Amino acid sequence: MVQPRSHRALILVPIVALVLAACSGGGQSQSPGASGGTSGKQDVEIFSWWTTGGEATGLQKLMDKFNAENADDHVFNQAVAGGAGSNAQAVLKTRMLGGDPPDSFQVHMGHELIDTWVTTDYMVNLDDLYEANGWKDQFPKGVLDIVSFDGHYWSVPVNIHRANVLWYNKKAFEANGLKPPTTWDEFKTAADKLKAADITPLALGDKDAFASGQLFETILIGTLGAEGYSGLWTGKTDWAGADVTQALNTFKMALSYVNDDHASLTWDQANDLIISGKAAMTVMGDWIDGDYIAKKFSDYGWAPVPGNDGIYDALSDTFGLPKNSKHPDATKKFLTLLGSAAGQDIFNPLKGSIPANTTAGNPPAGEKQYDDYLKSAQADWKTDTIVPSLEHGAAAKPSWVSAFTQAVVEFVTNQDVEATQASLVQAAKDASAS
Ligand code: GAL
Repeated sequence: MVQPRSHRALILVPIVALVLAACSGGGQSQSPGASGGTSGKQDVEIFSWWTTGGEATGLQKLMDKFNAENADDHVFNQAVAGGAGSNAQAVLKTRMLGGDPPDSFQVHMGHELIDTWVTTDYMVNLDDLYEANGWKDQFPKGVLDIVSFDGHYWSVPVNIHRANVLWYNKKAFEANGLKPPTTWDEFKTAADKLKAADITPLALGDKDAFASGQLFETILIGTLGAEGYSGLWTGKTDWAGADVTQALNTFKMALSYVNDDHASLTWDQANDLIISGKAAMTVMGDWIDGDYIAKKFSDYGWAPVPGNDGIYDALSDTFGLPKNSKHPDATKKFLTLLGSAAGQDIFNPLKGSIPANTTAGNPPAGEKQYDDYLKSAQADWKTDTIVPSLEHGAAAKPSWVSAFTQAVVEFVTNQDVEATQASLVQAAKDASAS
């Protein structure tokens, strides 16, 4: 069932099993020294996958504030590159299972946290922080529901992101007399025009597979609507249905307009094609806004992905406290800043996300303010129908996300609608059986 607009809740599937994230790949990391000398302070390790543009800058700004205000503790970003945590999650899994967790780590709100480290008893509950900071009255009820399990709070949300945005280069659109397409038919007409003008219609960087998975996720939303899409994760929508077939055909059409080198580019490298004007559109989450801010590019526009108008495909980055954290008290101090209005108003205007804390939204004068895109996102968050992002941990347990993504990766290469739909049907069956 779709949540009515008045409900501030994401739609989540009941937890049916305990599954650990199964990702693979290497990564890069930064040392404590990368963020400055620690001069006798104890180093508190915050693990994330934020290494680029607005992501790294936003977190660093937050850390700078913490480090300036705390005489004894020095937090640093131990980051493993790879969009959507493609590499970080595997590294985290090894460290958690090996008894060597970071002090805190980035994890998506919802199944990605609850079905992994909470149900396996690797986390400390944060009820005392929620109590001491009055967060029960400051975070929306839907958010509180999702960060809780078994009557306890398990992580602190720093933001709300939207995954279903179509970003475009304004000059390329103006030069070709285009408006943002509202249907996939209009997209095709626009894409043909752009192609004729020697501009790549749709930039994609799916070196990290979440990017093509996310593109397909938004096509599913646009084709099935909020209720139909949400039903895919609750068993109410049939994966074998004609609308899923139609979504796969639309995906195939969209893929025929992407850059040839998509498999070797990351999401932000694909965004560089928009910045340079070599490509006109890209479908990505609003961390792209943070990327534009960091790269000082302002000639961009945004619109809902075709068919997604009035629907907010939501996710949230949260941070939790693992049981074996070496500095639990200092970590709690950092989490307190991260959940506060002051912390969120430092981080989010740079990150390209909106605050999860409803008392935030007014950065102090002299600090980076929320830009026009983020103001529009804040307004939409209040009125749109909210659905959970699959690729970013909110809609389904990690093993299902992996199976879905694998089917998409194969589709990008073989474009076989029938075989892919069969794999998606099987993935849903496997998920409900485990
Ligand atoms: C998402 C994450 C965002 C952003 C993006 C690209 O999963 O929630 O904050 O980092 O990946 O890496």
